[in-house]
Amino acid sequence: MVSTSLTPLPVDVARIRTEIQTLQPQLVEWRRRLHQKPELGFREHITAEFIAQQLQEWGIEYQTGIAKTGIVATINGKKPGPVLAIRADMDALPIQEENEVPYKSQHDGVMHACGHDGHVTIALGTAYYLSQHRDTFRGTVKFIFQPAEEGPGGAKPMIEAGVLKNPDVDAIIGLHLWNNLPLGTVGVRRGALMAAVELFNCTIQGRGGHGAIPQQTIDSIVVAAQIVNALQTIVARNVNPIESAVVTVGKLNAGTAHNVIAAAAKMQGTVRYFNPHFEGFFGERIEQIIRGICQAHGASYELEYYSLYPPVINDERMADLVRSVAENVVESPLGIVPQCQTMGGEDMAFFLQEVPGCYFFLGSANPEKDLAYPHHHPRFNFDETALSMGVELFVRCVEKFCS
Ligand code: NI
Repeated sequence: MVSTSLTPLPVDVARIRTEIQTLQPQLVEWRRRLHQKPELGFREHITAEFIAQQLQEWGIEYQTGIAKTGIVATINGKKPGPVLAIRADMDALPIQEENEVPYKSQHDGVMHACGHDGHVTIALGTAYYLSQHRDTFRGTVKFIFQPAEEGPGGAKPMIEAGVLKNPDVDAIIGLHLWNNLPLGTVGVRRGALMAAVELFNCTIQGRGGHGAIPQQTIDSIVVAAQIVNALQTIVARNVNPIESAVVTVGKLNAGTAHNVIAAAAKMQGTVRYFNPHFEGFFGERIEQIIRGICQAHGASYELEYYSLYPPVINDERMADLVRSVAENVVESPLGIVPQCQTMGGEDMAFFLQEVPGCYFFLGSANPEKDLAYPHHHPRFNFDETALSMGVELFVRCVEKFCS
């Protein structure tokens, strides 16, 4: 927690913290306002309008309509210098909110169940603070408000639209409020933080017939069952046990009745890994297994395999910078959590492929206030104390990087 410091803080740190903490009621108000109006990917119109309105009011330069609903804002410091980008995702999820709070979602079936309302708020708070303190940094801070993180992904089209150019971004940072960590902690590490996400759809085509006369058929369910089992051997037998990877078949549909052998079976699945050297490997191995098993049974198949997001890989120097800042912001014994990897994916990965940067987790769970439901749960909510901590982390990263 912010307030548990035992040693006196250096003067500038204390000043920044006091000023940012006075913003806390405002941050809570913005966050709750955004929370009431959640919008799905590429449809964040109300959200974008709110962001633009605030930036306008504070005299910050910005551009709207990038990759449909994205916004880029720039704040120049006292002198020319490096360009640091801060990225915040804006979208919500197709979930019906079950929290009974005064600021409950007003959009039926849509909810900020991942905390992106908090991400927008933290970026806005940082923009406001920096616009009032242009004398505390050199160079430029570029805010990237990105649509559609939850899919199909707004980062790539924003990069293609040129958000990392003019002025050219030297480094990028971003955070995710994280209920897998308690309030008062920061998960930051060098290298891979989150996994690559690949997806596949497969149809196994057999030959249907009578459930009591199997010799006239090719049973797609028996073939599919063998495939599901065999796919698990890729991680168990083909991947170095020191490495991490997941192959999951999440959907399997086949058949119509007790006594009918199913002509076709359809499956969908996902693959996750950290190490970029696996690019291409899983797709190839999955196809080999499907091909071999289908051939053995006289079935045929159709496979679609594609990569959604690459792994989120942090630059060592930028991770060290965030870590050194975080060490002063979170001072509880819990503090920094370096072992915080997740097999979840994030399209922040595309920005990190272009420029060095660091994506990190800001602990936001508080079980004492019943604020510890997992992300994407209909009762997800986070401790709003994390909002001003997020602003402080970003502001101090700017002051350190752009000093
Ligand atoms: Ni998220």
